[in-house]
Formats: sequence, structure tokens, C-alpha cells
Amino acid sequence: MKGDDGMDGMETARLVLRRFTPADAPALAAYRSDPEVSRYQGWEPPVPLAEAEELAATFSAGDPRAPGWFQYAVERRDVPGLIGDIGVCRSEDGRQAQLGFTFAPEFQGQGYAGEAVARIVRFLLVEERLHRLSAGCDARNVRSAKLLERVGFRREGHLVQGLWMKGEWTDDVVFGLLDSEYSERSERSEYGGTPGGR
Ligand SMILES: CC(C)(COP(=O)(O)OP(=O)(O)OC[C@H]1O[C@@H](n2cnc3c(N)ncnc32)[C@H](O)[C@@H]1OP(=O)(O)O)[C@@H](O)C(=O)NCCC(=O)NCCS
Repeated sequence: MKGDDGMDGMETARLVLRRFTPADAPALAAYRSDPEVSRYQGWEPPVPLAEAEELAATFSAGDPRAPGWFQYAVERRDVPGLIGDIGVCRSEDGRQAQLGFTFAPEFQGQGYAGEAVARIVRFLLVEERLHRLSAGCDARNVRSAKLLERVGFRREGHLVQGLWMKGEWTDDVVFGLLDSEYSERSERSEYGGTPGGR
């Protein structure tokens, strides 16, 4: 485990993963309010600025190594400003974590989300030595599933109507990745093997 607070060196070729700040609230409100972005997520749009300010304050005060959710802010190295976020929920025993991710529409389709998630995966499985990562998504959320498979996750299960989401039963797809699988799978993935995540 690294000796820092868990935020040092969280960079990739194009991105920096950092703690949230109050200045991130307007961008957070904007992309969380987009109906396409929120379609398969637990919140309802729009997300008012005041609510985003509260979220940003809560996220900024989190401990990335404590059990429960910690939200990383993602920005480009060359242009300041929030482009998306990645949530990591560590288990009580600290050996497992669940991931979630959300990117602003104008920053999707450019590989930024995959690049950021690949960095988090390497951080958790290699640097922090967690045993297992998991993620779930609505079966209709093809972009999310594609991202997870690109980063090296295994599709483990399809829970028919396993999720009550926004007034309907929906299928839940579950993904997993073990530390022992990481190097083999990451070498095969397009993000694999490069120091710094990419
Ligand atoms: C899920 C989500 C993060 C995926 O974002 P994304 O931008 O499609 O994912 P990636 O970063 O992996 O980008 C891949 C795309 O960028 C393209 N791309 C362009 N330049 C690239 C580059 N330099 N490197 C890699 N991919 C690149 C790829 O070809 C691919 O396009 P395709 O989907 O048309 O094949 C995004 O759709 C999102 O935020 N959705 C709303 C929130 C949500 O549902 N989250 C998941 C909840 S479970």
C-alpha cells in the first residue's frame, strides 16, 4: 500500500484523478442533469446547483481508503475542469471494491472514461492489493459494459429483472476482476501494462 493519502500519482497520459473541490459543483450539476447521463443511474435529473454543491462538499471530505464510497474527480491534464467522476466503494474488510463511473456527454467517446477506470483498477489491485473488484450495470447500458470489458473485467452474471430502477424491473449485469487475473487480462486489454495507467 502506498504511504500517501491515496491521491498521489493518480494520473494517466491525458488525465488527473483528484479529490473533488467546491469549484466542481457547476460541472457536476450540468452532467448529472443530463437525462442521457442519468438514464441508468440512481438519481433523477435535474440536479440543482445547490445539491451539486452539497455533493461536491461531501465528496471532497471523503477518505479514499475508508470503507464505503469515495468519489474521484477526473480532469484533463492540459485543461482544468471536471469532466467526470469515478466512485469506489471499499468493503468493510478493505479487500474488495465496487466501481461506478459517470462522464459528461461532451467527454464521452474519446476513451477518457476507460483510461481513468484503468488507472483506478491498477491502483486498487496492484498498489493497494485488493483481492477483487466488481461493477454492475443495467443490461441496456451497452457503453458501460463495453468499458468494463475493455478494461479487463469478466462478465459474471446476468440477473433477470434483478434491479428496480426508475419505476421498472430491469436486468442487472454483474462484472468482476480478481487481482490474480489482473496482469493476464490487463495485458490483453487496450489499456494494459503501461506504467502510469496509459
Ligand atoms: C459509461 C460511460 C462512462 C462510458 O463512456 P465512454 O466514453 O463510452 O467510454 P470509454 O472512455 O471507454 O470510450 C470508448 C469510446 O471512445 C472511443 N475512443 C476515441 N478515442 C479513444 C482513445 N484515445 N482511446 C480509447 N477509446 C477512444 C472508442 O472507440 C469508444 O467508442 P465506441 O463506444 O463508439 O466504440 C459513459 O457512457 C457515461 O458516463 N454514461 C452515463 C453514466 C453511466 O451510465 N455510467 C455507468 C453506470 S453503471
